[in-house]
Amino acid sequence: MKNLCRLLFAVVFGLGLTTCTGEPAPIANSEIPATKIADAFQQRLQSELMAAMKTGGAIGAIGVCQQAAPAIAAALSEEHAVLVRRVSHKPRNPGAAIDGRVVQEMSILARTPFDGSGNPSVREWTDKDGEGGTHWLRAIPMKKEPCTACHGTNIAPEVQAKLAELYPNDQATGFKPGELRGAILISSRTKR
Ligand code: HEC
Repeated sequence: MKNLCRLLFAVVFGLGLTTCTGEPAPIANSEIPATKIADAFQQRLQSELMAAMKTGGAIGAIGVCQQAAPAIAAALSEEHAVLVRRVSHKPRNPGAAIDGRVVQEMSILARTPFDGSGNPSVREWTDKDGEGGTHWLRAIPMKKEPCTACHGTNIAPEVQAKLAELYPNDQATGFKPGELRGAILISSRTKR
């Protein structure tokens, strides 16, 4: 049975043979593990961000970040029939604000952004009420490059001015490398 299942996954998704073993666990509604979806999100965004920084510097890249991040999240949500979001305890975009259980889980990530192996920490839970939606939350730790240009303690005045114009309630500055900047949240669509 396990072999048949593996074979099916291999044929249908062409993704190798790991999925049926249950490690890492797939998020509900999606055959693809949440880790893979989150990696895809971060890779796509990172490459757009780096390209934009190269051509337009931090100021030019702000607009790209503003448009690319929600577009990539929407595309991956659609592709995998889950809800992919970037969220934060100190949001820049008010749409990234958190509530309920996510606040609790985020504060755990803020205390330990990295796990024992030095990878971003992950929290997972299932709603006890309602439809029993499942949620997967992975830390996005602050890095020196390129993050400090727009989220750090010493942001160039012209970048700061542009951010203030676009995000009057910006809370996402003053971060040091290694601190928790936010997290990627992947939820089954039964909730929200
Ligand atoms: C060029 C400026 C710029 C750089 C560099 C940058 N960001 Fe951002 N970041 C933004 C903007 C603008 C937003 C708000 C995007 C939106 O409107 O959805 C944002 C939003 C975020 C969010 C979503 C939550 C929130 O606060 O709205 C996270 C998480 C985040 N950035 C992490 C990072 C990390 C980690 C790095 C480094 C790898 C980084 N950013 C580099 C400009 C930048």
